[in-house]
Amino acid sequence: NAVTHRLTVIGTGYLGATHAACMADLGFEVLGLDVDAARIARLAGGDLPFYEPGLPELLRKGLASGRLRFTTSYAEAAEFGDVHFVCVGTPQKAGEYAADMSYVDAAIDALAPLLARPALVVGKSTVPVGTAERLAARLARLAPAGDGAVLAWNPEFLREGFACHDTLHPDRIVVGLPGDAAAAAGAEAALREVYAPMLAGGTPFITADYPTSELVKVSANAFLATKISFINAMAEVCEAAHADVTKLSEALSHDDRIGGKFLGPGLGFGGGCLPKDIRAFMARAGELGADQALTFLREVDEINIRRRIRMVDIARTLLGGSFIGRTVGVLGAAFKPESDDVRDSPALDVAATIHAQGGKVTVYDPQAMANARRAQPSLSFGESALDAARGAHVVLLLTEWAEFREMAPGGLAAAVAERNIVDGRNALDPEVWRAAGWTYRALGRP
Ligand code: UDX
Repeated sequence: NAVTHRLTVIGTGYLGATHAACMADLGFEVLGLDVDAARIARLAGGDLPFYEPGLPELLRKGLASGRLRFTTSYAEAAEFGDVHFVCVGTPQKAGEYAADMSYVDAAIDALAPLLARPALVVGKSTVPVGTAERLAARLARLAPAGDGAVLAWNPEFLREGFACHDTLHPDRIVVGLPGDAAAAAGAEAALREVYAPMLAGGTPFITADYPTSELVKVSANAFLATKISFINAMAEVCEAAHADVTKLSEALSHDDRIGGKFLGPGLGFGGGCLPKDIRAFMARAGELGADQALTFLREVDEINIRRRIRMVDIARTLLGGSFIGRTVGVLGAAFKPESDDVRDSPALDVAATIHAQGGKVTVYDPQAMANARRAQPSLSFGESALDAARGAHVVLLLTEWAEFREMAPGGLAAAVAERNIVDGRNALDPEVWRAAGWTYRALGRP
């Protein structure tokens, strides 16, 4: 890469580690920073602390090239970089809807006083609207470079499981710029250079003011969550009317205006983004006096949670009304396939609820076992799908990993005590399972 920019990436979670490795792959010199020394040691050794397809290879390639390095030192980062990407987390605050901004604030407070020469700080974390304006003022006040320290906001839309692809081939690049025209022009030029390979490929580059750029991210996630809850609300109606939501969804998807993506009915959304982002969005709208505009998101959240309750009810009904003394095999713990993330996982939530209601639950997931054990230590865990299903009175498919989708009913039949299966992701073919002697139940289907 002809450009001389040296980049730092502050925060090395799913977002930051991916961004750092992808930018090094594009040819930049990249320094990743995290306050977690153990995490930095693992990354520096080429060991990715979470599951993300393709990322371990990019990480090791970056390390081997010498272009990707890691540190825990803000002084080193400030000295090294002229563009600093802030990728720290903004989790939901305990006991309330709002986002916890302490990691973002701490990153700015640690970096800013060390910025002696002009630098661009680029926020990528998902934040409540108004954050960039606040941070820009803080940056200008704390940085010895003063107005030379400029803030831009550049939301990230990557999906876990496709993080490298989404980073290197984004649908669009959105950049929130400061009001000062000269500062905005400098920031835009620098980011156009950083993202030149994507722009050459035709990726739309959209500049906006700070609050608009912040809102693009949260409104995109609110729309996606709404689309999923819409089809899951239809699933509730289908259940009452003995209709089939999978056929309904398929038929709707052929209308270009609706489209088939994020119209998959099932156990609903989870993970580290959609649930907390819609809640933080509602909290922020409330602070701005616009809460009425987002009251529908409360409904979106509730529809989503009701799917989990319905799943438990279907399983309990299949077992004659109680889980006590019954064995339940759970397939899936991650919030979605191709991820080891169990944050707000519908699958793990259902497993824990059944355990709390007296069921003997054994969980298996192809990648999320370590995280699942940590999150729900009182559950039992199997070594394989077959192992989790051993002696089960009912098997629940809760995360649609390919190995579960492709499972043959005959193989599982040998392990279980009773041939009951509940398909929480509408991932199996009911006819195949029923023909093999199973009682097959699903969400939103007769
Ligand atoms: C999401 C957004 O897609 C991404 O743009 C943003 O940057 C972060 O949040 P991610 O959390 O990785 O990404 O997962 P995603 O693939 O969007 O899935 C979210 C949840 O929705 C999963 O639990 C998934 O199982 C569920 N889902 C998705 C459905 O229930 N039905 C669908 O049709 C699609």
